Amino acid sequence: MNKRSEFSSRFGFVMAAAGSAIGLGNIWGFPTQTAENGGGAFVFVYLILTFCLAYPVLMAELVIGRHGRTHIMGSLRAVAGGPVSRKLATFVAAYALVCISLILCFYSIVAGWMVTYFLQPIMELAGQQAAAQWLVDFATPRNVIAALAFLALTVAVISRGVQDGIEAWSSKLMPFMIVLIVALILYVAMQDGAGDGLKAYLMPDFSQVLKPELIINALGQAFFSLSLGAGTMMIYGSYVSRKENIVTLGAYVTAMDVGIAVLAGLLIIPAMYVAQHNGIAIFTEAGNLISGDQLVFTVLPALFDSLGAASIPLSITFFLLMSIAALTSSISMLEVPVAFISEHEKLSFSRTQAAIAVALLVAVAIIIVLLNFEALFGAVISFTTEISQPLIGLMFCLYAGWSWDRSKKLAEIREGFEGVEQSIFWKIWPEYVRYVCPLLVLIVYVQSLR
Ligand code: PHE
Repeated sequence: MNKRSEFSSRFGFVMAAAGSAIGLGNIWGFPTQTAENGGGAFVFVYLILTFCLAYPVLMAELVIGRHGRTHIMGSLRAVAGGPVSRKLATFVAAYALVCISLILCFYSIVAGWMVTYFLQPIMELAGQQAAAQWLVDFATPRNVIAALAFLALTVAVISRGVQDGIEAWSSKLMPFMIVLIVALILYVAMQDGAGDGLKAYLMPDFSQVLKPELIINALGQAFFSLSLGAGTMMIYGSYVSRKENIVTLGAYVTAMDVGIAVLAGLLIIPAMYVAQHNGIAIFTEAGNLISGDQLVFTVLPALFDSLGAASIPLSITFFLLMSIAALTSSISMLEVPVAFISEHEKLSFSRTQAAIAVALLVAVAIIIVLLNFEALFGAVISFTTEISQPLIGLMFCLYAGWSWDRSKKLAEIREGFEGVEQSIFWKIWPEYVRYVCPLLVLIVYVQSLR
């Protein structure tokens, strides 16, 4: 137990956890959802839900994890009050392990596409026209190879461990990613048409704010984006030193996640209007902004093409940005089952063996999904992100709020945060995860299933 790894510094943890949080959900999901749900109105509701609902759930996961200092099943069982809630904890953790493995499955597929779109212009520059075309044609062999290659990269990082793998890679890639995104925003902002996009993005149409659809989507987005309800933040919390103030660390991670989502909106929405200015269709027949895969793989590449000499560097930069964001998230996904297997008392797997074993299972799932793309791809996404993550997040709140003894909870948070009793956090959070979060998640959940 003493040998268990920890993040070496505050910076390392924040980069790793922000790296997990910031991913395709921010750079693709958030602008897409904003485009689909009334622009600024969506941004407004998303911000409120993130700070009022997602941050407290994030804290529940981080604190339970740091207290348990082991795999998620062990941590959850450690805060369970009695035998029934211990049994239930085993079940909830097992559900989370399945859920995060399935998230890794669809995420690897999408991330694989990002990598192929990153490589395509490079192949073109190298004069390899046929290879370049193969990379961007939607076909099963390409999809399988790209997803498995991305998964292999994830395994390579994870097998190096918490400090040399997760922390080292996140600490290098995250600052680089921020530079890329800012450079792209500045470039796009200078193009004709960008101003209209900015207006559409930032002007909330308040008549949309109370639409149930919009609220449900914003909550789903907030949960997915902060990597909640799947055990990732619990496992990352388990590597945080007791010297650190976990309340502040959680706030930094939330702020970075929101900041990058908002920046991504500043990039994508104006880019769409620049595309329109250049004669590319950006609205569907029904009059909504084009979103989803069409936006990323059709509108944006067409936009880059229309920008002449800048086209190749732009698309390399954009898809590199996407690939990096995806990698720092996928490693956090793989870490959850890998920690479980390599730290399980009854199993004797090394970290690398565990990573390979989980990856093989996920690879099988990837192949099954890709061979039945129409039937399974969307279904896996909605089972994990719409149904499972909110439900598991709700259970985590119940453990943090109800099962876990209040004084023990306080003792855990006090480590690294002297005087927490007097803080606003302690005045609000315990009651909040007890009543408000479960209730709100439940209301939105029931609404969304109707
Ligand atoms: N938060 C990541 C993103 O925004 C996705 C993720 C979900 C990561 C669940 C880990 C766990 O892309």
